[in-house]
Amino acid sequence: MFTHKIDGELALKLVEMQDAERIFELTDRSRAALKEWLPWLDHTKTVEDTKNFIQSGAESFALGKSLNCAIVYQGELAGIAGFNEINEAKQTAYIGYWLDTEYQGQGIMTRVAKALTDYALTERGLNKVEIRAAVGNEKSRNIPIRLGFTEEGIIRQGEWLYDHFVDSVVYGMLKSEWRSEKGE
Ligand SMILES: CC(C)(COP(=O)(O)OP(=O)(O)OC[C@H]1O[C@@H](n2cnc3c(N)ncnc32)[C@H](O)[C@@H]1OP(=O)(O)O)[C@@H](O)C(=O)NCCC(=O)NCCS
Repeated sequence: MFTHKIDGELALKLVEMQDAERIFELTDRSRAALKEWLPWLDHTKTVEDTKNFIQSGAESFALGKSLNCAIVYQGELAGIAGFNEINEAKQTAYIGYWLDTEYQGQGIMTRVAKALTDYALTERGLNKVEIRAAVGNEKSRNIPIRLGFTEEGIIRQGEWLYDHFVDSVVYGMLKSEWRSEKGE
C-alpha cells in the first residue's frame, strides 16, 4: 500500500474503495467550484461513479500507468492528487489535483505537488514532471510557479470543458533542475 507522510499534518495514501463515500461527499459539495476547471463532474453524479473511478485507477496503478492519492490533512481526506499518467517510455509523470473548497487557501496543494514531484524525480527516478492547467486557472498555475517549474508553452484549445475549449499552459520540471530547486 502506497502511503507517504509529507509532514506532521499532511500525508498521501493510495485511494481505496473504502474512501468512495468521502471522496463523493467532497466532490458533491465542491461541485460548482470544481466544475469550473475539471471536465468529469457531469460523469460523477453518484457514489457508484466514484467507485468506478477508484476501480479504474486501481487497474491503471497495477499496470504502473498512474497513481491516484487521497490527500489526508489533519486526519481527514481533503482531496485527490497524483499522477494521471506515468509514461515510462518518456520517463515523464503528469500531475493532476483537486481540493475540497474548505481546504483551499492554506498551501496544502503546493506541499502535495512538491512531495509528488520529489517522489517522481528522486525516488521513482523519472526524468520529468509536467503540470497542465487552463490558462485562466490561476490557482492551479500558481502551484508549479511556486515550485519553480518552467512554463513551456500553450496548447491551444487543449481541453474541452462541457461546452467550450480552453487553452492549456504546460509547466515542466526536469530531474536535473529539481536538485538545485531543492537546494541540493
Ligand atoms: C487548484 C487548487 C488545488 C489550488 O488550491 P489552493 O488552495 O489555491 O492551493 P494551495 O493549497 O497550494 O494553497 C495556496 C493558497 O494558500 C495560501 N497559502 C497559505 N499558506 C501557504 C503556504 N505555507 N504555502 C503556500 N501557500 C500558502 C497561498 O497564498 C494561496 O492562496 P491565494 O491563492 O489566496 O494566494 C484548487 O483551486 C482546486 O482544487 N481547484 C479546482 C480543481 C482544479 O482546478 N484542479 C487543477 C486542474 S489543472
